[in-house]
Amino acid sequence: MSTQVPEQEAEAEAETEVEQEPERPPVSAHQQRRLAEKRERASMRQRAEEELSEADESVEIKVFRYDPEVEGKKDPRFDTFAVPYEKGMTVLDALIYARDHFDSSLTFRHSCRQAICGSDAFFVNGRQRLGCKTQLSDLEWPVRIEPLPHADVVKDLVVEMEHFYEQMEAVEPYFQTNEVPKGDLEEQRQSRENREKIKMSTRCIWCAACMSSCNIAAGDNQYLGPAAINKAYRFAMDEREGADMTEHRLNLVEQEHGVWRCQTQFSCTEVCPKDIPLTEHIQALKREAVKKNLKFW
Ligand code: SF4
Ligand code: FES
Repeated sequence: MSTQVPEQEAEAEAETEVEQEPERPPVSAHQQRRLAEKRERASMRQRAEEELSEADESVEIKVFRYDPEVEGKKDPRFDTFAVPYEKGMTVLDALIYARDHFDSSLTFRHSCRQAICGSDAFFVNGRQRLGCKTQLSDLEWPVRIEPLPHADVVKDLVVEMEHFYEQMEAVEPYFQTNEVPKGDLEEQRQSRENREKIKMSTRCIWCAACMSSCNIAAGDNQYLGPAAINKAYRFAMDEREGADMTEHRLNLVEQEHGVWRCQTQFSCTEVCPKDIPLTEHIQALKREAVKKNLKFW
């Protein structure tokens, strides 16, 4: 028979229970961080659902997905996300919302969000566009977002840009001249008219939308492409580089895979987010190349 009072018995039992509890392995800092991220994602998703139910309108985006490094994601597919719509929202805003609230593995490039860095060119509703410059209100819904065509896909909306950069590099996209002013502190002046002539060509942000839209570039991997030729125009037409350099630049673009490949289809001009008259610049270089090669005896 027990000699303990009921409270003492209960305390003794509680102590025995505490002693019997199995020891848990210590949670590492990494695990703690993962847990915190998981909780954060869950709360973001819940918030998204609340915002969605409160929003007057929502927009569906269908996003291309592909990840060659993860089993089960190697087959390309489209994921649909419903995003609460607000006036003024861009395609990039919708993608950021989907990534932050629904799937943090959704991958795409972006940076400035003001059509300056050129990193978020996508194929939106069947046309090359900058995500940050394209209003959802200007598109048909649901909005279909794919990576730029004619480029290898690295993951989701990210494409390989190396080839594009190589073509740009091939035209030596930097100022070069032998005609420097005499005085050390003298500026190398450019006339207003000449600045006006090259003004539009200087606006390129290297987004590769034009290259992606070009049928010739799709069929000829060595074709310099509209962006590189535009860059060549920008320097070939700059009066400060001098005649020798202009000739060198024309030689660069009149090679087999240069300006003569262009069939004036205007697709590059149509999609350029900076409104550069690319086809016009290509034609101007063709004319200059012909003039350079004309001989009068
Ligand atoms: S020319 Fe226009 S479309 Fe082509 S890379 Fe430059 S900004 Fe983009
Ligand atoms: S995010 Fe920089 S151009 Fe769109």
